[in-house]
Amino acid sequence: MSNTVLIGAQWGDEGKGKIVDVLARDADVVARYQGGSNAGHTIEIGRERYVLHLVPSGILYPGKRCVIGHGLVVDPLALVQEIRDLEARGVTVRGRLEIGDRAHIVGPWHRRIDAAREGRAAAGARIGTTQRGIGPAYADKAHRAGLRLGDLLETGWEECARERLNETNAQAAAAGTEPLDTAQTLKDLRAAGEALKPYIGDTVASLAADWRAGRSILFEGAQGTMLDIDLGTYPFVTSSNSTAGGACTGTGLPPKAIDRVVGVVKAYTTRVGEGPFTTELNDAMGEHLRQRGREFGATTGRPRRCGWFDAVVARYAAQVSGVDAWAITKLDVLDEVETIRVCVAYTCEGRRYETVPASARILAACKPVYADYPGWRCATSDVKQFEALPAAARAYVDELCRLTGVPLGILSVGPRRDSTFRLSL
Ligand code: GDP
Ligand code: IMO
Ligand code: MG
Repeated sequence: MSNTVLIGAQWGDEGKGKIVDVLARDADVVARYQGGSNAGHTIEIGRERYVLHLVPSGILYPGKRCVIGHGLVVDPLALVQEIRDLEARGVTVRGRLEIGDRAHIVGPWHRRIDAAREGRAAAGARIGTTQRGIGPAYADKAHRAGLRLGDLLETGWEECARERLNETNAQAAAAGTEPLDTAQTLKDLRAAGEALKPYIGDTVASLAADWRAGRSILFEGAQGTMLDIDLGTYPFVTSSNSTAGGACTGTGLPPKAIDRVVGVVKAYTTRVGEGPFTTELNDAMGEHLRQRGREFGATTGRPRRCGWFDAVVARYAAQVSGVDAWAITKLDVLDEVETIRVCVAYTCEGRRYETVPASARILAACKPVYADYPGWRCATSDVKQFEALPAAARAYVDELCRLTGVPLGILSVGPRRDSTFRLSL
C-alpha cells in the first residue's frame, strides 16, 4: 500500500476533489494538510453534487477514515455547519473524521480583518481573497498569538479570544465599522467547540500509527502550486504551503512516508482572484472556456479567469513537488475548440523564460510563446475507452506530458466518477 500526495499544479480548482474521490477507493485514510474553508472541492456522484470546504473529499467513500491535519486553519462554526449538512444528506461523518488538536482556529475576527484589508487595499494591491479569514489566521499562528482547536477543550482560551476580539473591535471603531459582539462570539465558539469535541484528537499520533500499520494514506492538497505562500506568485497567493512539502509539515508525517506525488492539472488554466496570469484570455475564447467548463468559484461563486494551458507553470509545479504522474482534467471542455494553444515559454524585455520568475511584476510583463495544436471537434465525455478517444485529443494530452516531462496517470473527461480513465494510477 502506498502513500500519495495529491497537489494542484496551477492556481487551484484543477479538479482535486474529483481525483481524490477516484483515488480514495484504494486508500484507507484521506488527510487534508493545509488551507481552510477557502477551498471548494466539488464531487459529483450520480445525480448528487457535493462541495467540500474543510472535510476531506474521502468522506464520500463509505468507511474511509478522514483527517483534518494540524496544518489547516479551521473555522469551527463553518466546520460544524459542513458536518451537519453532510449528515443531513446521509453521509456518515461521526466516527470517521478526526481533527488535529494542533490546528489553529479561524475566529470571526479573522474574517472581519480579511474583509477590512481587502476593502481598504488599493486596486493593484488587492489579493481578491475568499474572505474566509485565512491570511489573518495564519498570521496569528506565525505571531504566536493564535488559538488552537485543542484549546477549545480546555479552560482559559476565552481570555485569548477576548484579546483578539478587543484588538479587532478597536480597529473597527477606528474604521467606523460595526464591532463584533464579544459575548455572542464567545458563546458561538463555545458551542462549536462542544459540537466538535468528539472529533478533535492527536492526529500526529494517529497518522503515525496508520503509517506504521501499513495503511494507505492519501494526502489531499488544497489550492494550487501558484498560490503557495513561498513558491507561488507572491503576494497574490494564499497563506499556506499548497505544494507537496506541506503534506509533511501539515500532518507530522516525515518525507519518507511519501511514496508518490500526483499533480492535478486542467487541460487549460483558470485563476480566481488577482495576480499575474500569462495565458489569460479576455476574449470570446476565454468566455467559451468559462461557460463550457462551468468556471465559477465553488466557494465564492466568482467567475474564474480562463486561459490556455501554461506548460511553464506545470513544469515548475512538477519540479517543486516532484510530481510522478499527472491527473489531467477537463479535456472535454476543449471539445469544440478548433486550434488549441499551449504556452511553452515566456518572453520579457528581450529575455526568454523557461521557468516561472520570482517577481510578480516581471511575470505580469511576460508574454506567452505559443505552440498550436489542432482540436478534435467532437464529444469526448461519453467515450468509454482511452483508445477510443479521437487521435488529436490523445496527441494533445501526449504533448502536455512531453512538454512537462511527466507521464499521464489519469485522464478526466467529465465531472463524474465514471468519466475517468485510470492509466498508470
Ligand atoms: P478543486 O478545487 O481542485 O477540487 O476543483 P473545483 O471543484 O473547485 O473545480 C473543478 C470543477 O470541475 C468542479 O465543478 C468539477 O465537478 C468539475 N470537473 C472535474 N473534472 C472534470 C472534467 O474532467 N470535466 C468537466 N467538464 N468538469 C470536471
Ligand atoms: P481550491 O482548494 C482557487 C485564491 C483566492 C485569492 C488567493 C488568496 O478549491 O483549489 P485566501 O482566501 O486563500 O487568502 O485567497 O487564493 N484561492 C483559491 N483559488 N481555488 C482555491 O481553493 C483557492 N483558495 C484560495 O481567490 O486569489
Ligand atoms: Mg476549488
